[in-house]
Amino acid sequence: MLLPQRLLEVVAGVKGFLPENEAIALMAAAASAETGVWLEIGTYCGKSTVYLGYVASQHDSHLITIDHHQGSEENQPGWEWHDTELVNCETGRLDTLPALRRTLWLSGLETVVTPVVADTRSVATWFQTPLTFLFLDGNHTEDVAPHLVIGGTLAVHDIFEDPAKGGQPPWHVVQRALASGEFVQTAQCDSLRVLKRVARS
Ligand SMILES: C[S@@+](CC[C@H](N)C(=O)[O-])C[C@H]1O[C@@H](n2cnc3c(N)ncnc32)[C@H](O)[C@@H]1O
Repeated sequence: MLLPQRLLEVVAGVKGFLPENEAIALMAAAASAETGVWLEIGTYCGKSTVYLGYVASQHDSHLITIDHHQGSEENQPGWEWHDTELVNCETGRLDTLPALRRTLWLSGLETVVTPVVADTRSVATWFQTPLTFLFLDGNHTEDVAPHLVIGGTLAVHDIFEDPAKGGQPPWHVVQRALASGEFVQTAQCDSLRVLKRVARS
């Protein structure tokens, strides 16, 4: 599955961290997932959200995307991935929510995607919706992974087995999932891994 031309033009103008080959692999993973409620953790300005939101729109599914919109550690001042254009001039803090709203408006995906502006640890205390697809993008733990149904798809981005190449939390999520016996790996593309839930304890 590929994005239509008008959405390719939108994502080309959205700041983000998802290379096109991984985006295509992510779309393929979502396209093979069951219809239902899908969840993305780590929205940033909505680049991956457009890819997933488009697939959701074609599969009668709904995408929730969670981010506190204040950036990860590497997005803060002094770090490699800090972008001064994303700093709110009043608060002085990074704020990617306006960019996300623009992305959703430009892509026409506002009815398919529900943004949740919150820390995942706070969402995990009340979130109960069964998920058929979960995408973790950033240094997240699997706070809401327990809600993935059997047969559900777990996609995790930024997997670096070598600590010299990147943060370890996503790799640890994949290692724990595979070691639990509840997940099997179904696909891999560069730093993206796709797992399927086959059991739950
Ligand atoms: C790598 S970026 C996501 C990139 C995005 N998926 C894309 O395609 O460009 C990771 C995001 O996770 C968010 N984030 C990090 N820790 C978080 C937390 N504990 N709760 C919610 N969001 C968090 C950051 O604000 C950041 O926007």
